[in-house]
Amino acid sequence: MTQLNPAALPKVAVDFMNNDHHEAVELINTLLADIEAKEAEKVTQGLQEFLQHNTAHFAREEEQMIRINFPPYGCHKGEHERVLAELEAEIQHWQEEQDFSHLHHYLSETVVNWLVNHVNTMDSVTAMFIQRFDGAS
Ligand SMILES: [Fe+2]
Ligand SMILES: [Fe+2]
Repeated sequence: MTQLNPAALPKVAVDFMNNDHHEAVELINTLLADIEAKEAEKVTQGLQEFLQHNTAHFAREEEQMIRINFPPYGCHKGEHERVLAELEAEIQHWQEEQDFSHLHHYLSETVVNWLVNHVNTMDSVTAMFIQRFDGAS
């Protein structure tokens, strides 16, 4: 069974982001298990939950970036928007084709690689700025 270990994700400097990243891993792991069990209805539901999670997770980061006047806000938000649009297109594709192996590949490769890389770069830097801002005020 393909599962991502939450410990594989780097920890950032603020807890609300770590909590969101942990939840993302759990949702991805549940989806991968349901895909492997060929549970189409659960997969459809899991995709909606993952979309809702990502929307809220990204919005929480964006709200904090505005609060601290984070200079690369536009760049980080742009990356969130790109990933949300990609997920919406994948959900559409799933609803049309119910292609388990395509969706499994998208989640276990594209999404996981993106998440690890994004947490390591944009989220880590953003978290450091939030921590410094709050420490200095
Ligand atoms: Fe994040
Ligand atoms: Fe982010």
